[in-house]
Amino acid sequence: MLSAAAADRNKEPLLAVIRDNVSGQRALQALEVSSGTGQHVLHFARSLRNITWQPSEFDRQSLSSIEAYRAHYKPDNVMPAIHLDASQPHQHWGGIQPDSLDLLLNINMIHISPLACTEGLFKGAGALLKPQGLLLTYGPYAVNGEITPQSNIDFDYSLRQRNPEWGLRDISLVSSLAQKNGLYLDKIVDMPANNKCLLFRKESLV
Ligand SMILES: C[S@@+](CC[C@H](N)C(=O)[O-])C[C@H]1O[C@@H](n2cnc3c(N)ncnc32)[C@H](O)[C@@H]1O
Repeated sequence: MLSAAAADRNKEPLLAVIRDNVSGQRALQALEVSSGTGQHVLHFARSLRNITWQPSEFDRQSLSSIEAYRAHYKPDNVMPAIHLDASQPHQHWGGIQPDSLDLLLNINMIHISPLACTEGLFKGAGALLKPQGLLLTYGPYAVNGEITPQSNIDFDYSLRQRNPEWGLRDISLVSSLAQKNGLYLDKIVDMPANNKCLLFRKESLV
């Protein structure tokens, strides 16, 4: 089982945001895109038992880690992890049906992957969420072309050094991708360590 220190630090604040913004009563379906080690999905599933969680990953080693967590904790509301490349069309996302998801979660991927992954994420969300379904993204973002504080400027620089296709995205850019795909930015929640949760809702059918 892999373990990421950042995931341990942010799992509780993230759980609080999810809890505040989804029903705790109804049976819900959630997909996590880029689940990483699997720490998050196991943590969320333990507390939010009305949700059936579908973890996914692009990286094969991470997929094995998620499966190792599942084998260890045996949660009955976490499905086997699926291989999912966010840059690919949602028809290749493990057979998830259109308009079937209540929640789509994406933690710390948008700035550490090429823009095609973010574009694919929003296209997938537009197709797979139910009307009024929630896409929750988490990470550091630029706001109106400006990155703050200095630690995020340095982080953005280091990401771009590692891969010129990576880097902090502007909230206006992700909002425009949302709009193109039938979602709207409903809420921004400031999180510890200069991160934010962006909560996008899929428009209702008219
Ligand atoms: C910084 S890690 C975050 C992992 C986890 N969500 C967390 O917060 O601990 C970035 C993740 O993006 C994933 N990723 C990279 N390219 C991807 C792609 N094309 N489709 C889906 N996920 C991708 C990586 O495999 C990695 O798990």
